Amino acid sequence: MKKYYEESNFIGVLEPHAYYIPFLNADDVFLPRRKSASYIDLNGTWGITEYKSILEVEDDFYLNQTKGEIPVPSCVQIHGYDNMQYTNTNFPFPVRPPYVPNENPCYHYSRKFSYDGDQKAYMCFEGVDSAFYLYVNDKFVGYSYISHRLSEFDVTPFLVNGENKVDVLVLKWCKGSYFEDQDKLRFTGIFRDVYILKRPKGHIVNYRIDTDICGKVGFALTDGESATVTFNGEEKQVKSGEKIEFVVNNPKLWSAENPYLYKMIISSKGEYIGEEVGIRSSEVKNGVYYFNGKPIKIKGVNRHDFNYKTGATVTVENIIEDFTLMKKLNVNAIRTSHYQNMPEFYKLCDKFGFYVMSESDMESHGSVAYKMDCEYWRDFSDLAKLPMFKKEILDRQKVNVMLNVNRPSINFWSLGNESGYSEYIAKAALWIKEYDSSRPIHYEQANKCVEAEDGWKRTDRYYETPIDVSSGMYNSIHWMHNEFLTDEREFRPFILCEYCHSMGNGPGDLKDYWDEINSNERYIGGYIWEWADHGVLLDGAKGLTYGGDYGENLHDGNFCMDGIITADRKITEKSLVMKKQYEPLAFELINGVLTVKSRWYFENVQGLLTVTKKENGKVLEETTFNLDLLPQSEITFNGGSAQVIIASVALLKDWSLLKKGEEIAREGWTKENTLESKVCKDNNLKITESGRYITANTKGAQFIIDKCSGEICSVSKDGKQVIDSPLEFNIWRAPTDNDMYVKNDWERLRYRYAFSNAYETVIKDNVVTVKGMIAPARYKSVVEYTLVYTFFDGAVKMDIDFTVDEKATYLPRLGFKTKLDKAFNKVKYFGYGPYANYVDHRSNCVKDLYENTVNKMEVNYVKPQENGSRSGCEFMEITDGKMVIGVEGDFSFSTLPHTIKEYSDYKHDWELPESSCTELCLDYFMSGLGSNSCGPSLDEKYQTPKKGKGSITIYFK
Ligand code: GAL
Ligand code: MG
Repeated sequence: MKKYYEESNFIGVLEPHAYYIPFLNADDVFLPRRKSASYIDLNGTWGITEYKSILEVEDDFYLNQTKGEIPVPSCVQIHGYDNMQYTNTNFPFPVRPPYVPNENPCYHYSRKFSYDGDQKAYMCFEGVDSAFYLYVNDKFVGYSYISHRLSEFDVTPFLVNGENKVDVLVLKWCKGSYFEDQDKLRFTGIFRDVYILKRPKGHIVNYRIDTDICGKVGFALTDGESATVTFNGEEKQVKSGEKIEFVVNNPKLWSAENPYLYKMIISSKGEYIGEEVGIRSSEVKNGVYYFNGKPIKIKGVNRHDFNYKTGATVTVENIIEDFTLMKKLNVNAIRTSHYQNMPEFYKLCDKFGFYVMSESDMESHGSVAYKMDCEYWRDFSDLAKLPMFKKEILDRQKVNVMLNVNRPSINFWSLGNESGYSEYIAKAALWIKEYDSSRPIHYEQANKCVEAEDGWKRTDRYYETPIDVSSGMYNSIHWMHNEFLTDEREFRPFILCEYCHSMGNGPGDLKDYWDEINSNERYIGGYIWEWADHGVLLDGAKGLTYGGDYGENLHDGNFCMDGIITADRKITEKSLVMKKQYEPLAFELINGVLTVKSRWYFENVQGLLTVTKKENGKVLEETTFNLDLLPQSEITFNGGSAQVIIASVALLKDWSLLKKGEEIAREGWTKENTLESKVCKDNNLKITESGRYITANTKGAQFIIDKCSGEICSVSKDGKQVIDSPLEFNIWRAPTDNDMYVKNDWERLRYRYAFSNAYETVIKDNVVTVKGMIAPARYKSVVEYTLVYTFFDGAVKMDIDFTVDEKATYLPRLGFKTKLDKAFNKVKYFGYGPYANYVDHRSNCVKDLYENTVNKMEVNYVKPQENGSRSGCEFMEITDGKMVIGVEGDFSFSTLPHTIKEYSDYKHDWELPESSCTELCLDYFMSGLGSNSCGPSLDEKYQTPKKGKGSITIYFK
């Protein structure tokens, strides 16, 4: 076999052009493409033979019968060939470009199809990972690569009337793989659609549509003899190389708020092509980004083409399912991280209304990781600087831009991801500008023109890069505010192309990011990393799997489980935090005046506003108003006063993929400290002391304090023990994914093994005062505390005053835990809810009275971790139906069916054992979540403080 796979050339592949599907009937042009008589579908069952190495493949391999069968499109790893592998930055093979290992698995695909006609015939492959040789009727047609590009071959001279045969040799790796090192499971195969387009001789090839927001719509025939274009009631002729113009008076502009499309029909030589034209503009002016002249905000997500059952192969239905969820979660923008999507994807974005950053299939992240003395973040540019990649870097842009240029939803081009910066990348950017000046260009790694002292610092060269938007990933709010906004040389607006790393429990900083983004027009917004987890459901498996579960010796574990929704497309509690921050309305309630403000720029928000007044969980009054808010305008209502007030807005009519009645925004306000205490004095209680123990006999219960630890080691009621383990001090939590780095400190400091040692206990009246410390063996005390127990009738109040050692890393939490019989299952509380929440992760929650069960309060993460906490609580009760354990004060709690130890020790949710108890955790402080798995470390204001006081009262009834 000729070693095309060590080069960056295409053989026999046609120059890219705008994507369209011709039809033979003018009336059909807006139907799904398979309805076109010009479209010959080659998806379906193909034969397949695997070769372990390209060196085993004979030149005439296509003469061999294939041995097995495989559906097309699909990934071979899903069908029993090769192994799945998940790697993030690391190249999955040893590094020596242009070479890839000779032990490069290859797949001979083959099928027959019938064809007749003497027209032109074009065979199209919309995605083959990573490269392929094409043969038709035993003749070599060509070679292509760049996995996510559309490769089109003129197969006219190869076809015969009647039965034809197509053979494809797909290689797992090629030279191009060095620029396809995206953070994902690595798949191989013909993973997107294959078809033939049958076309008349002399058909048009390429055209370009442009619009301006005054209503001018241009059509240029850039390749083709002539065409007739019908648009807006007019019909015009256009010849090769000419441009015609239409004018729409008072045009309806396209936006994500109202994706209005005008229909255009292009006809030539008996073919009809339907175009849906969106009139809109996308530009940067004076350091601000404008869409249709307005400084909109991008409320985006990074989306990979991924499905938990089919890998890199996704269907239009999968995409629409994602879009429906995105609309439900108030998402208005998508970055196609980190490769172009299939062409129909962009048409769906046009239709349903998403701003798209279309990113080229380019990432050479392994550049930072292959050096043996690698300084991880220093330089991504090693490969991008090599002349051997010059052509390829440009081609990767062409196949994205030339194909998708007519799509109104695309508002930014992105050169790719994490490939460093070089003169070749600069040239590629200039090529795009030349080809399409109507969209700003994005490339985060323009930052990386470093003669690197510090990988993050912007050098002089950065300011000269031909990139239109300043971009960063995971920058801290502090950096945005104090460095970006004050940088006098920075003339671009700023976008977070990735932020709020949504791995596991978190991200905790969404609200703070949006408070900052909303505060200044220089911020465009951002795309959350990332839309969905990449877990795989293997045949017969009990649950989802991730890196390391496929026998790979090089992998990045569960780093692919970092979506704001689950791999199997479920909205979770964290999704709703994003929904809250992305909502189209802002609310304020000041002195009984409720203000509702629209965050939309183009359309009225029409909704039904419901204002609910509540007290102790009961609805006192519900009032509704019809809202019809002009863009950016506000309206006020009498909000009144109550313990809890909730404002919620639901759609008044269907919008895009959402149905009438869907809630689009919600906010709540709660008066603090309005609850009555359930705890009573006990004038007859008795406290006695023996050698080791102090016993408090109260009317309702007996408490025993262990003087060794200073902790309550027993609570009994009517002679029966009610807690199954001491109410012991606890500073540990099962590390979340976002604790990934701080956890090393926590482990080094052995917080997990810290225990309490009391060195003084004093009894006075109904009060026992303990002075003590919390520390693990080896270290000096981490926490010094004074804990004051005040006893009541069946109750004890625990007031703490504590100091954490100055040198100690902030604590995961500070509180108590105890085990209860698992019959304790019903929970009621007054605090933030109804969803799990933490101090920095509760903007979607309202402080109110909620009821729930232990099982339902557990939040499932495929990699088990801390979960299910409720913050800002004033009251909670848990019962087994016979007795009630209650808590008052200012605290966080969790009541979960598994223990901290179990959540810490298991690798998959489906490995967790059956519940053996209910573990009750009561925390004076629970540290926030942050997004440090990739983002900045947890803000100090959300850490368990180094010094503080707290009060928790626990009663048994
Ligand atoms: C970014 C990268 C993403 C993903 C993320 C971590 O650096 O652009 O592709 O790897 O980190 O999940
Ligand atoms: Mg990467």
